Amino acid sequence: MPEAPAWRDDASNSWQDQLRQAGDNHDGMHFFPFAENPNRHGLLVINHEYVNPTLHTGGMTFVDGPNGTRTRPAEQVHKELAAHGLSVIEIAKDPDGQWQRVAKSPFNRRVTGFTPFRISGPLAGDPRMKTASNPDGDEILGTLNNCSMGVTPWGTYLACEENFHNYFVNRDEQDYARRPEHQRYGIGLGGSSRYYAWESAEPRFNATPQADQPHLGHVNEPNRFGWVVELDPFAPGSTPTKRTAMGRLGRECAVCSLGDDGRMAFYSGDDARGEYVYKFVPAGPYRPDEPEHNASLLDSGTLYAAQFNADGSGRWLPLRFGEPGLTTQDGFADQQAVLLNSRGAADAAGATPMDRPEWVAVHPQTREAYVSLTNNTDRGRVQPTDAANPRAENVHGQILRWREAGANPTAEEFEWDIFVIAGERQNAEQSIPTNRVGNISGDLFSSPDGMAFDSAGRLWILTDADETAPYMSTIGSNQMLCADPLTREVRRFLVGPWGAEITGITWSPDETAMWINVQHPGISYPASDGRSRPRSTTVLITREDGGVIGS
Ligand code: FEO
Ligand code: CA
Ligand code: CA
Ligand code: CA
Repeated sequence: MPEAPAWRDDASNSWQDQLRQAGDNHDGMHFFPFAENPNRHGLLVINHEYVNPTLHTGGMTFVDGPNGTRTRPAEQVHKELAAHGLSVIEIAKDPDGQWQRVAKSPFNRRVTGFTPFRISGPLAGDPRMKTASNPDGDEILGTLNNCSMGVTPWGTYLACEENFHNYFVNRDEQDYARRPEHQRYGIGLGGSSRYYAWESAEPRFNATPQADQPHLGHVNEPNRFGWVVELDPFAPGSTPTKRTAMGRLGRECAVCSLGDDGRMAFYSGDDARGEYVYKFVPAGPYRPDEPEHNASLLDSGTLYAAQFNADGSGRWLPLRFGEPGLTTQDGFADQQAVLLNSRGAADAAGATPMDRPEWVAVHPQTREAYVSLTNNTDRGRVQPTDAANPRAENVHGQILRWREAGANPTAEEFEWDIFVIAGERQNAEQSIPTNRVGNISGDLFSSPDGMAFDSAGRLWILTDADETAPYMSTIGSNQMLCADPLTREVRRFLVGPWGAEITGITWSPDETAMWINVQHPGISYPASDGRSRPRSTTVLITREDGGVIGS
């Protein structure tokens, strides 16, 4: 950002510095070209998923208190809030053809845990969104745990709020048990929130009901996370919006498939063990020449959860108030209750519990959709194995794909198959339980997470495995691979530094430049001295001959 303070290697930057510096843990990302010189000039929007202890000199400070409570220094809490969210960064090729950041750009922007958001859709102003700090239920401070993302046909960015439950605590056991919007999402119960104990310095993260406060204090604050966030990167002064019609999940992504008639589906994974694949179908079509019409398209439509049948057929189950299982007798007061507890609604509708659905990628020609099911050690124990999730104690994951009826994104029926089961090759030399054997043709990988198609239909796969696990000895560090959807052959493209996940992928329109993110590297990366504080890093990839990457 303009006048951003320089990064200090000893982590001594203040929280006010952090408000103007890039956040931590870069994840999903997209390049938005300018209309003029689209292959030389654009805005890179990057999610900052969470924060590492390396954000602070000496690491994170926690002081234990009574009854499992924990206290944090306010300076650390504020720095962590400031290191969450999004970055918008203008980049351009210089006269030598090298990509550079434009430091003094008016487009450069940080969205953080403090940034005001508008609420739109069915839950705007709803009593269940009201808190002591926001009695009108119309404004939320911040976006958290933005993992993957999506892009709309009208050129806005969709950041998704994934593991928001870890930021909140409800200390009232009885209240918690009555509140599906806490319980079903695993909001912290007891002394302290799981991740960072922010509640000690920022009361809104304490979701324990307070009888003497308006709207019971901040008991509804967790309801204000888990949404799709829409941001127009070309309008730096605009207020980003949380789109409640799309439902509330541990949402990984929101990836658009655009039909011939302008109707759309936005596909989402809910990345937790045994959670679901969803799609949101806006009521209206995209109209290229009507920006005002497009600006409210994500405020009304139908949310569906996926059912994968053993015979290779599938159905999208509408999560619509009044459908069987979604009535007042079932505990859903209205459509707002269905959206707030989309997981519970999908349970009731009979959706198929999946092996941690992460990114979705839509084939640019066929509209076939691929979802990475990253792993699920509960499979076979908590959820029985099934056709779509066939491996018990699934440590390596699989990629599943579906074809909507008539290649129509709004169809309610589809066909599906498993594209690849990741993991070790059969009869590998290591002694591996058979349930970990995969069927990869080509280079081995585990725990597919990020995924995207390039315009030629090559599927790029980015992995997020725990490489320290013994069963990873034949696979190694996380990596990026490229797969052929026709032959299913998979080839390694790059390998990340130790400790890192490879995530985030985007291209210049001509695909001669590709950007990826190295998230939470465990060594001094990007420095190679073995001493420097490791930093999540956006990496630019180009070919020496300037050609299309992967061609
Ligand atoms: Fe943040 Fe599901 O990965
Ligand atoms: Ca992910
Ligand atoms: Ca992951
Ligand atoms: Ca991650």
